Amino acid sequence: MPAALPLLGDVRVPGDKSVTHRALLLGAFAEGITTIRGALRAADTEATAAIAAALGATVTSVPDGWRVTGTAAPRTTGSLDCANAGTAARLLLGLLAGRVGRWTLDGDESLRARPMGRVVHPLREAGASIEATRASDDLRLPLTVTGTPLRGRTHQVEVASAQVKSALLLAGLVADSPTTVIQHAPTRDHTERMLPAFGVRLEASPGTTTVHPGPLHAADVDVPGDPSSAAFLLVAAALVPGSDIRIRDVGLWPRRTGVLRALERAGAGVMVLARQLDAGADSRELGTTAMGQGGVPARGDPRGDLRMGHAELTAFDIAPEDVPDLVDELPILAVAAARARGTSRFAGLAELRHKESDRLATIATLLESLGGRVDVVDDGLVIEGVESFSVPADPPVFDDHRLALAQAVAHRSVGAPLPDLSSSSVSFPGFEKLLGALSG
Ligand code: S3P
Repeated sequence: MPAALPLLGDVRVPGDKSVTHRALLLGAFAEGITTIRGALRAADTEATAAIAAALGATVTSVPDGWRVTGTAAPRTTGSLDCANAGTAARLLLGLLAGRVGRWTLDGDESLRARPMGRVVHPLREAGASIEATRASDDLRLPLTVTGTPLRGRTHQVEVASAQVKSALLLAGLVADSPTTVIQHAPTRDHTERMLPAFGVRLEASPGTTTVHPGPLHAADVDVPGDPSSAAFLLVAAALVPGSDIRIRDVGLWPRRTGVLRALERAGAGVMVLARQLDAGADSRELGTTAMGQGGVPARGDPRGDLRMGHAELTAFDIAPEDVPDLVDELPILAVAAARARGTSRFAGLAELRHKESDRLATIATLLESLGGRVDVVDDGLVIEGVESFSVPADPPVFDDHRLALAQAVAHRSVGAPLPDLSSSSVSFPGFEKLLGALSG
């Protein structure tokens, strides 16, 4: 196998997936024209754009995103295909539950296997009517939502899920009184950050958010690069000697930068440059080794450039309380751990069983296929680092975008041909081209 070429250069990653989904959905129900720039144009968000149009919004492409003209009177019936997008499905259940109409939500095979009860049960407590359309099925897609008047209430949410929190807050927009969501573990806060920009009254303190019913008003949304996509390039650079990359304009929300803190613990500190903070961001939470030009307070999303070079990785642990801030980065962090000196322990990963695949199982399959040493213990992973990866002649094909991308990084780190990357179109179209650009 030829030695891997270093990754060198300066790139952008596609826009943030969570923010793009939310901007499309809020824009669809808002009065006026919402412009989404820097949006993620990928299979997941194209599905949401098609749903916005199916609900009656006018959705047009602009050079780096969409313009959405919201509809005051959404279509009252329809079949909405969420494809692979769990965020679209769960947020829509909340958005539609209190509006006039009857819609059926469905998705691909992977989304049909994912649990929806975590959203449906609390919505039913607020008065929602949501039923599974397949007899004998648990609360999984396809689901039919029949809009009914909703009561404002206080929800105590046990599962650490931003999608559940968001669905309940979005349902609260049309409830008869304020809705409060109390969550024991903090999760990504894009919905709370975006709703006030769409004219909604909202109060948020750590763990508790209250939304007041009221109409949505269009907003302009400028979407930073997705830190979850950036993570693949950061680990690729860390693994290959001689690498030095810069990723421009990445979202640096504290609830999304757990991966930077984990990499720092592994001995691979990411340098944050050209950083812009917003009023709600705390620079200490970034956990970075160097701060470049320092923080320039600015309104909007905290964002900045990331610079990363090769590093000798040492074993690092992930504790249950770390998980919400890096939940989507666990596949690529597992690849990093598999090349770190020593034994890494990742704990509290039960939620991984409910992602686009059972990621506890698929991470183990990936690492084993690369000659890694991994054990699934309870709801965690014990990963012993190896000197190098050995890529099999017939690598497994992953239907889960984040597994395929993590696998590609492992292959790239030893100069092996890239695997089947078909599933990466869900969140990171153009990944292969970007990797090529970084290879000179
Ligand atoms: C997301 C929340 C997370 C994450 C998903 C996107 C969101 O899911 O894994 O990729 O946009 O709110 P959970 O809410 O299930 O943790």
